[in-house]
Amino acid sequence: MYKIAVIPGDGTGPEVIREGLKVLEAVAKLTGFEYQTKIFDLGGERYLKTGEVFPEEIFEEIKKFDAIYLGAIGHPEVKPGILERGILLKLRFGLDQYINLRPVKLYPGVETPLKDKSPQDIDFVVIRENTEGLYVGEGEFINKGNENEIAIQISRNTYRGIERCIRYAFEYTRKRNKQKKLTLCAKTNVLNYASDLWWRVFQEVAKDYPDIKTDYAHVDATCMWMVKNPEWFDVIVTDNMFGDIITDLGAIIQGGLGIAAGGNINPQGISMFEPIGGSAPKYAGKNVINPLAAICALSMLLEHIGEVKAAQLIENAVIEVTSKKLKSLAAGKMGYSTSEVGDLVVKHLVG
Ligand code: IPM
Ligand code: MN
Repeated sequence: MYKIAVIPGDGTGPEVIREGLKVLEAVAKLTGFEYQTKIFDLGGERYLKTGEVFPEEIFEEIKKFDAIYLGAIGHPEVKPGILERGILLKLRFGLDQYINLRPVKLYPGVETPLKDKSPQDIDFVVIRENTEGLYVGEGEFINKGNENEIAIQISRNTYRGIERCIRYAFEYTRKRNKQKKLTLCAKTNVLNYASDLWWRVFQEVAKDYPDIKTDYAHVDATCMWMVKNPEWFDVIVTDNMFGDIITDLGAIIQGGLGIAAGGNINPQGISMFEPIGGSAPKYAGKNVINPLAAICALSMLLEHIGEVKAAQLIENAVIEVTSKKLKSLAAGKMGYSTSEVGDLVVKHLVG
């Protein structure tokens, strides 16, 4: 019996999670596993009503679950950073989910803005370090409020933090068994501390994986190659900030935020799966947002906890729906509502 903590969150989060849970119920019946869910009410509304961002007892309770299914965090009436840092990053850091796994895969029938590129060309995975770098929130203002002000933002990169991430990436590349190529994305020509350490650790860990080809690209060049020759990539490993940026680019070349999903993984602990687009407040409550990203996140969650068959059935159903039904993946342009897309996925689940 799996225990899944569900955090629908803000904006369109609850709508897309509702569809994901519909698919979960159907796939569990079909493949025969049992689960329990508990909904946790965290997000902007709670904060505005009570002033609480993330009560400690809820955080402790969530630690007892097998996995977390998250909708979206971010509210237009709350100052940016409060909820993101207080909920999303608290979970990532507090549960030591040191891998952010973001597949960039163009499904058949989905339109990409890249001319002449097809599903064979766009199929790679970004492994983003998820607990360090610029996201640690360290730094200071000096002379705040006057023209001599200086803002310092620290990127903290530890040998151990980099090593476990790069090792995971090599293992993942081996297991994925496609091009067997791992590309380090950094900025060694400028970041003389952070990228230097990433580079050295990458070379060192690579010695344990002679069967994996290694490659390197600066982050700016990575953006260019992702657009020009996405087929060159198999697995990319990178730091937290670069990973954040390049995976939005990745999302758009795989058809947009309507389909892009990710996993925040602690290989020894509790992992969390989410659609990578935000809370999209302007679409909230309208039943027009695309739930496929949340449904793909569910598929990743199930694969992670060991329900590989269920995960595969969901992916197959998503491919059926994108290739045969949806006009577009964009909110309001799909030709179906949010709940109808959920129903379509359920209908196409076949074991
Ligand atoms: C993401 C998001 C988050 C991030 C924000 C909401 C803090 O953009 O998951 O990519 O920067 O990691
Ligand atoms: Mn992001």
